[in-house]
Amino acid sequence: MACSGSSILLFFVFLFLHPSLLLSLPIQDSFLQCLSKNSEFSFPFSTIFYTPKNSSYTTILQSSAQNPRFTTPSLPKPEFIFTPLQESHIQAAVICSKQLGIHLRVLSGGHDYEGLSYVSEIEKPFIVVNLANLRSISVDIDDNSAWVQAGATIGELYYRISERSKNHGFPAGICPTVGVGGHIAGGGYGPIFRKYGLAADNVIDARIIDAHGRVLDRKAMGKDLFWAIRGGGGGSFGIITAWKVKVVPVPPTVTFFEVSKTLEQGAIKLLCKWQQIADKLDEDLYLQVVIRLANASDKGKRTVSTTYKALFLGGATRLLHVMQESLPELGLTRKDCMESSWIDSMLYEAYLPNNTSPEILLERKNLFKNYFKIKSDYAKELISETALEGLFEMLLTSEESPRIILVPYGGVMSKISESQTPYPHRKGNLFLIAYMSSWKDVSENAAKHIDWIKKVYEYMTPYVSMNPREAYANYRDLDLGMNNRTRPIVEESSAWGTKYFKDNFYRLVRVKTRVDPDNFFRHEQSIPPAITSIRKRIKG
Ligand SMILES: Cc1cc2nc3c(=O)[nH]c(=O)nc-3n(C[C@H](O)[C@H](O)[C@H](O)COP(=O)(O)OP(=O)(O)OC[C@H]3O[C@@H](n4cnc5c(N)ncnc54)[C@H](O)[C@@H]3O)c2cc1C
Ligand SMILES: *[C@@H]1O[C@H](CO)[C@@H](O)[C@H](O)[C@H]1NC(C)=O
Ligand SMILES: *[C@@H]1O[C@H](CO)[C@@H](O)[C@H](O)[C@H]1NC(C)=O
Ligand SMILES: *[C@@H]1O[C@H](CO)[C@@H](O)[C@H](O)[C@H]1NC(C)=O
Ligand SMILES: *[C@@H]1O[C@H](CO)[C@@H](O)[C@H](O)[C@H]1NC(C)=O
Repeated sequence: MACSGSSILLFFVFLFLHPSLLLSLPIQDSFLQCLSKNSEFSFPFSTIFYTPKNSSYTTILQSSAQNPRFTTPSLPKPEFIFTPLQESHIQAAVICSKQLGIHLRVLSGGHDYEGLSYVSEIEKPFIVVNLANLRSISVDIDDNSAWVQAGATIGELYYRISERSKNHGFPAGICPTVGVGGHIAGGGYGPIFRKYGLAADNVIDARIIDAHGRVLDRKAMGKDLFWAIRGGGGGSFGIITAWKVKVVPVPPTVTFFEVSKTLEQGAIKLLCKWQQIADKLDEDLYLQVVIRLANASDKGKRTVSTTYKALFLGGATRLLHVMQESLPELGLTRKDCMESSWIDSMLYEAYLPNNTSPEILLERKNLFKNYFKIKSDYAKELISETALEGLFEMLLTSEESPRIILVPYGGVMSKISESQTPYPHRKGNLFLIAYMSSWKDVSENAAKHIDWIKKVYEYMTPYVSMNPREAYANYRDLDLGMNNRTRPIVEESSAWGTKYFKDNFYRLVRVKTRVDPDNFFRHEQSIPPAITSIRKRIKG
């Protein structure tokens, strides 16, 4: 009995797990079988598993993909999308993807600028593990902390914090549908980062599933890996399932305003002055500038407008005082200032209409669903009046409707050392520049829009950081270079790696080499392990 029993067992093990047999089945079926084998409880995985045959496959793919540039019909599509309900499902997915040799991409909010969470042009076939179901948030105000699952959006996090306390907030980005999974992994800045640092600077614990399918918390993962995941970019070290973050104090009243000046109103001179004070401003004030084409008051004429958009952690009276001290040229008046709670100011920051209720933050509906291309720079020196004139001239003569956004640095960002986290753009940066071109539909000539942004980027070369020309990892830009093979070479990858991470890139490589030497977690710009010889895999 015992003997025949074990041979039946062996037969089943062979049938279900032998890779050559599994591969002869359609990948989806093999994967489903493998998931059931590797899950403690039997679970109807087919209910959270979408293949192109399922009618909802396209909806799931398109609703989670923020940039429709990367879901056009000609681009590769995932073999299937898996939407796990709990950590153990993700562990099983890692184990099965490894066992079946099928490449895995992980998606939290789907806002990757190059779509790397849902499209792969270097791996075929691939699957997507979409974490949208893992989005619970528990806020502990007494402890000034919150656990947030990776599939939650920053809007949900803001809402849940404000629900518990009007005097607390979190320093992350402006677009509420960005996922905490990718956002915090790549840094994460927003309107209160001059006071509190990046989202990644406020992580106190995390849970990650490594390449062996193990769940590790801060203690279990060790110092180096915990360092790497706070800014080293998503998709390189494992799958984050949750972050524990600090929640930070915000006053009951904050103030915001938006004031624009056109070329005719002296935009260039004002921008020169802004550059001198932006990084030295009171830490409570975030004063960004959005440069774009506009209609001049003179009918039919075009102009460039510079919009000063601010958030201040305090009331209007003190803000007026701060502005009078630092940038009186803007001519800010009490009338321009609006006071609100922090949570309402985040709706304003997200360009939502007046009087929108905060519950909108719980909707995952994308607010900015456009085709776009973005590139980034860091300015360490003042950009001269002449250089700005040239830039504005490029805008005036273009057929595009681009935006150039200047994000002031300084404050606490200058006090955190370059190596404290992988995010190195700290002291010495005056502002971050984002160049953005967006368009409404697929029929428009994408290449034309992208070329235009590249030209502006080229024009800016002499005026921004150099050696390396630094860039923001969360503003992913494949023009900077990419891994185009399964086993990238560190020397080649350092071309883009040092732009995002400066010398921290090499520490990231060391961590990667230790935790994922076989490069299971990889994409076009993942951190490469420092190993050149391919290890023989033991099969069967
Ligand atoms: C409209 C818009 C506004 C933005 N505003 C800001 C802003 O104000 N400030 C700012 O700093 N950034 C901003 N960003 C950039 C944003 O921070 C990055 O695109 C970020 O990586 C998105 O995270 P995600 O989870 O939504 O993206 P995804 O596309 O899901 O993931 C991004 C990358 O991380 C990987 N990844 C995703 N989840 C995990 C996980 N759980 N574990 C490990 N790796 C994972 C993915 O595989 C991919 O490589 C904005 C982006 C958009 C599109
Ligand atoms: C997808 O289709 C298959 C086959 O019809 C079905 O078994 C499965 O439940 C569907 N998946 C979802 C998520 O609806
Ligand atoms: C300028 O005016 C035209 C025509 O009225 C309008 O279509 C366009 O949207 C305006 N552009 C801007 C940037 O306001
Ligand atoms: C928003 O509402 C406030 C108060 O109701 C009002 O003062 C302000 O002008 C409105 N802003 C916009 C942009 O409509
Ligand atoms: C990508 O592949 C091409 C052709 O094999 C090679 O010339 C190039 O150097 C590679 N680039 C990177 C970044 O690996």
